[in-house]
Amino acid sequence: MPEFFDMHCHLLFGVDDGPKQLEETLTLLRQEYDAGVRTVYLTPHYRKNMFECPADTVQANFDALRDRVKQELPDLKLRLGCEIHVYMDTVEEIKNGRCHTMAGTEFVLLEFPEAAEKKYILERCHAVMNKGYAPIMAHAERCGAIRKDTELLRRLVDMGVYIQMSAGSIIGEEGFFWKQFCKKAMQQDLLHFVGSDAHGLKERKVNIGKCAAYIEKIMGADYRDQIMRVNPMETVERSIANRYE
Ligand SMILES: [Fe+2]
Repeated sequence: MPEFFDMHCHLLFGVDDGPKQLEETLTLLRQEYDAGVRTVYLTPHYRKNMFECPADTVQANFDALRDRVKQELPDLKLRLGCEIHVYMDTVEEIKNGRCHTMAGTEFVLLEFPEAAEKKYILERCHAVMNKGYAPIMAHAERCGAIRKDTELLRRLVDMGVYIQMSAGSIIGEEGFFWKQFCKKAMQQDLLHFVGSDAHGLKERKVNIGKCAAYIEKIMGADYRDQIMRVNPMETVERSIANRYE
């Protein structure tokens, strides 16, 4: 079984609209494990006036979870990140430590408003990159400006922005048009990472396994491995490894 990554989910308990209790998180992580996932990036929301769990509380819950997972699922790696809702002062928020980067690296998972305009997306990505961070655009398929203009997606990729799409959108849970758009992005090699964006047992469930099977069917096993394992290994994981060399 290939060792997949889930690059975006809300499975850390007690910090956003994901699970409330550690036990529920463990059940969900077992589902990830059974689907072939071996590294999970836990990326709680950080969004002003909505989700503002202090970074040290997030870290404390992550540490408690990691201790339990070491005993129960010893070969499942957990990484702490954050889904950062983009504002004009996002760079300052990151620099001040109000929200986590991906496992302490230069990679940051950015969520744009669905109605964000092209100019705003480009300007904010440039601003983040100018300060030395590597933006990963969370569920890029949700932005109308991107869905209606594949050239914008290409421009972002060319300037060094990483693209993440949701497993649910890829397999059609969000409807035919989003599914078609994700397929087009894969065929044009404009996708880097897949994330479940899972929130719980009932809604927005863990679906990496279904997505892996679907991608293998339409794009082949090599492509599936590229975006679900190799790309994370060659980017964020490499940055983590370099810090400890
Ligand atoms: Fe999310």
